[in-house]
Formats: sequence, C-alpha cells, structure tokens
Amino acid sequence: MLNTVRLAREQRNLSAVISDEILERLGRDTASARGLPNAAFVDPAFHELEKDLLFPHTWTFAAAASFVPNRGDVLPLKVAGRPVILVRGNDNAIRAFHNVCPHRGARLVTETQRKKVVLTCPYHGWSFGLDGGLRGRPHYHGPGSHQPAGDEGHDEACLFPIRSVTWHDWVFVNLDGQAEPFETYIAPVEREFVGSDLSVFRRSEPDMHFEFASNWKLVAENFCDFYHVFMVHPALDIAMADTTRRAMRPNGRHMFNGYEFAGSATGIAPDDATLGLPVQPGRSRENAQSMVFGLIFPNAVINVYPESLQFVHFEPIATDRTIMHMWFYYVDGAASAPEHANARARIFESWAQLNAEDEGICRQLQEGRACEAYDGGRMAPYWDAGTIHFHRQVALAMRHDDVPRDPGSS
Ligand code: FES
Ligand SMILES: [Fe+2]
Repeated sequence: MLNTVRLAREQRNLSAVISDEILERLGRDTASARGLPNAAFVDPAFHELEKDLLFPHTWTFAAAASFVPNRGDVLPLKVAGRPVILVRGNDNAIRAFHNVCPHRGARLVTETQRKKVVLTCPYHGWSFGLDGGLRGRPHYHGPGSHQPAGDEGHDEACLFPIRSVTWHDWVFVNLDGQAEPFETYIAPVEREFVGSDLSVFRRSEPDMHFEFASNWKLVAENFCDFYHVFMVHPALDIAMADTTRRAMRPNGRHMFNGYEFAGSATGIAPDDATLGLPVQPGRSRENAQSMVFGLIFPNAVINVYPESLQFVHFEPIATDRTIMHMWFYYVDGAASAPEHANARARIFESWAQLNAEDEGICRQLQEGRACEAYDGGRMAPYWDAGTIHFHRQVALAMRHDDVPRDPGSS
C-alpha cells in the first residue's frame, strides 16, 4: 500500500503543476517576466500541493531553539500540516521527531512540556527517551508482563526522526530527508551576514503574531518589496536614506538587501527610540545605521540591525490566510534589561504599525488575484527582480527541479 502511494508520488508529472511555459516566463529578464499564475495564490488545491511538494522537500524553519531552553523540554508544532515535536535532549541537542506514537499512531504530545525524562504515549503507555529510543512497553506480553528498555525489537519501535539543524536560535527541518546539506542551503545566508555577529542576540518578549487575509507568498514578497515604502509606509519612507534604497538581490535560493537610515535612528523607529541599546561587537556608531535583511527560502526572514534582530516566519494557514510570527532579539542582556524596556517597546510598536499598514495591501493583493485578466504582472525592472526570483524558486521547488538531492542523507 505504502509503496503504491510512494510510486504514484514519484511518477507524478510535476511539470504539470508548474508548466514549462510558466517556468520560461519566470526565467526572463525582470521587465518581460511574468510571475506565478493566480492559481498559485487562490486555488486551495495548489495550497495542498505546496504542503506535499514544496515544504517537505526543502529545508524550512520550524521554531526558535529558545522555545525549548532546557534539557527535557518538548515543543509540539506543525510543519506543512504534519505534527512534529522538537525535543532538547540530555546532550543539550535539539532533535525533531514526527509527533506520532509508532504503536497505533496516536499523536504523542499535545502541549509544551518541561523537564521531561521520558515521553509517554497517553494511549497504551509506551515510553520514549529524549533521543527517541523506546524505553518500555507496559503490559506488552500480557497483564503485568512489561517489556523493559533494551529488549528485543526495541529498535523497531523508536520515534520517527526528522532531519533537523539548529542554526543560532532557529531550528530548521527537512521532512523528506533529501534536501541538500544544510551547510549548502544556509551558506549564502552566512555570507551575507559575515559583518554581523548573530551569536550575541537573545530573544526578548513579547512576540508579535499578525494575521493576514492573503496567501503566504504574497505576505513574504510584500515584506521584501522596497518599492511600496514610498506609498504605504510614510514613517519608514522618511527614515530611509534615498541613496541606499535598493531592490532585493538574489543569492542562492534566498534573497537579500541592505539599507541605511537617514537620521539618528538605528532601527525602523524614525527617531531616537533605539539610542542607548548596545550594538553588536565590532559595529561602531559610524556604521550603526545600516541593516542587512534576507528572505530565507521559503518562508522566513531575518532582519539584522546593529542593535536588534527580528526573525520572521510566514506560517501558511490556508490559501488566503497567513500568520506572520515575529520574534525580537537584542544584544545579550539588552533583551531583558529594564533600562531598555522603553526602547524595546518602541521598536515593537514601530513594527506593529508597519504590519498594520501592510495588512490592507496584502488583502488587496489577494483579492486582485481573482481577476482572470491578471497574468502574473508587469514588473518594474529596478525593483521587482526579487519577486520574480522568489516565484521562480517556488516553481522550481514544486517541480523538484531546484537543487541536487542529497544521496547521503536519510
Ligand atoms: S498508540 Fe501509543 S502506546 Fe499505543
Ligand atoms: Fe510593507
């Protein structure tokens, strides 16, 4: 049965999902390129295909490592609709497993757990170590006849592991286990942040969660669209230095940008809100007004300012519904120090304002995709190369035509 399903998936004609013609249009120079067709944003069947073909096939962000700060912490979450758990083990490493009991398939964990020694299935009581290994099966051989750890057959009944890597405070997973090595995937991102010290950033509270009535791709590409700042974000428009306004620059399957602020502000707040916050080591006040920013394909963003960092995840909920999660980071103790509470609050408020300004536009982007006259758009050559690059990466990933698979992975 399973092999039949697998065979059907392998034999699926993926170029029927994204045709050669669509790919050709995405490969043209920006001025004559056309973006993804409307169906990619409005058709629930395409949304389901993304869960099957796109997200399991690439590395994708799962959760912040600081959500499971201590040994024995367990976090249930969903990746591409699949229940997953992140577990911090006794060796302090974070592992990802499918959140399912290998016995009869019960979902194992339903809420965040702390300081666990074993994970016990609520159905028949099979228990698992933090490394995923089976620890015991009560009454396995009959009433009162338990099977202890290490018995025969245990290797067959461990939790199902998921390939995962913790990069700074962010855990990425690859559900199908065959994406390129993580080092290859993340290398362009690392190169872009060579001048930054990401290791000094600590996550602060609160988080921001913002709901958009639009497809996740529209929310992501809007976040990377520097063209709309003139019209949609008046405060940011004043704060940004015109001389450094650039379009997104593709690098690998990701894309990046950087710009500087015109005034004294070193964040998006257009005044002195961030003054007093400590900056990363090696970043002087002279270059403190520049930031670097990137879309980590497919659906995460990292903004790095000298004194703050925002990590963003666009969680696809439905074809026309996305939750944007935004986590805020500051240099070491500044993440929690009371004397910086006001600066943190003002940065938070500035982002809330920006997201509110984007909310209506993202809804209109979604609504416009109901018009059959729209065929992927007429692009602005100076600004829209990033959008086309992003669409092309989605198309290639959906066709499984993007990068060499990793034969050594499991
Ligand atoms: S389903 Fe988990 S122990 Fe039976
Ligand atoms: Fe915006």
